[in-house]
Amino acid sequence: MPQIFHPSFNTVSKVTIFGAVFFLAAGGVAVAAFIRSGYATNAGITRDQPVPFSHQQHAGALGIDCRYCHTSVENSPYAGMPPTKTCMNCHQQIWVGSDMLAPVRDSYKSGKSIEWSRVHRVADHVYFDHSVHVAKGVGCTTCHGPVGEMQLIWQHGSLLMEWCLECHRAPEKFVRPRDKVFDLDWKTTGSEQKELGAKLKEEYGLKSMIHCSTCHR
Ligand code: HEC
Ligand code: HEC
Ligand code: HEC
Ligand code: HEC
Ligand code: HEC
Repeated sequence: MPQIFHPSFNTVSKVTIFGAVFFLAAGGVAVAAFIRSGYATNAGITRDQPVPFSHQQHAGALGIDCRYCHTSVENSPYAGMPPTKTCMNCHQQIWVGSDMLAPVRDSYKSGKSIEWSRVHRVADHVYFDHSVHVAKGVGCTTCHGPVGEMQLIWQHGSLLMEWCLECHRAPEKFVRPRDKVFDLDWKTTGSEQKELGAKLKEEYGLKSMIHCSTCHR
């Protein structure tokens, strides 16, 4: 019998099939990695803003409380954005000639609000509420990272479902006393957190909240 196929064909086809399978698997891994990367989740990326407002300057160095500008963070789902008037409380007196502040002065004169580019946004089918987290002792920096060191704000966590669930399974690993929620420098060691978390779990009646309807209503 003459051989129709060269004996090496089998090897070639195996390699090809293996190659295709491997390629698909690698592709899948790459897609999964992409979904979790900053490109897709926006984590770690800053946005251009109409005014280069710096949290490092205002919240970090000057120590202005978050609530001075994000006034509804304790009692509503939304933290809220400061109106131009809030900036002018100070900038009518200081840095009045600054070029960087020209859009702020224009906005104050025209009454047209400054349009900040949004950095964080959870998917539409997800319910999020700041006030609950503040009331239960979850600090701003726990979710938003080192805000006091940020010139422009970037998104610290992925905001993916697993990011929420990691804390919702065992919130005692992450909570702090309520009066430290706005503290930019709050830190605990592992063993301190273990002790504190157990105490606050009792005190604040913390539950693990992983039912779908907690966040999908
Ligand atoms: C003097 C006013 C002021 C203070 C104080 C302030 N912020 Fe802001 N914050 C702003 C402004 C203006 C923006 C919009 C521009 C930007 O995103 O940087 C903003 C944006 C943010 C954002 C991003 C919002 C988005 O678009 O997703 C976060 C998070 C935030 N602030 C957290 C904090 C925290 C935490 C504190 C306290 C440690 C704080 N801010 C204190 C004025 C302030
Ligand atoms: C409580 C007072 C206060 C408030 C409120 C405030 N700022 Fe400032 N801001 C300052 C001070 C003080 C400086 C100078 C800081 C420095 O030089 O380190 C400054 C600096 C700046 C600068 C840099 C100016 C330059 O030319 O270098 C910008 C831009 C700015 N602020 C924007 C804003 C905006 C926008 C708001 C409102 C969301 C705001 N600030 C609210 C006190 C304030
Ligand atoms: C449990 C995590 C978590 C904590 C704690 C938290 N945030 Fe947020 N923050 C988020 C998420 C998620 C969003 C996006 C919400 C959305 O898209 O509706 C957000 C959005 C924001 C925004 C944009 C405006 C808005 O309300 O959507 C600001 C400003 C902000 N946070 C400030 C703060 C401040 C100040 C604190 C501390 C008091 C704080 N956050 C604590 C998760 C958190
Ligand atoms: C670092 C911890 C932490 C992270 C991250 C976190 N949460 Fe929470 N969340 C809590 C705690 C603590 C509570 C209050 C639990 C309790 O009442 O026992 C809570 C409560 C809630 C509630 C209120 C449920 C109710 O009906 O009272 C909602 C809604 C919620 N979280 C949504 C989210 C979403 C959506 C995300 C992610 C975008 C998120 N959370 C991320 C800690 C966290
Ligand atoms: C603590 C809040 C939280 C809880 C509890 C939760 N989810 Fe989600 N879920 C989210 C967030 C945040 C997203 C958005 C992720 C994104 O933007 O990609 C999401 C997205 C989803 C999606 C869209 C696909 C995806 O992964 O983005 C599905 C489907 C989903 N959730 C199903 C569920 C089911 C089923 C449960 C209950 C077993 C559940 N979720 C519980 C926060 C939650």
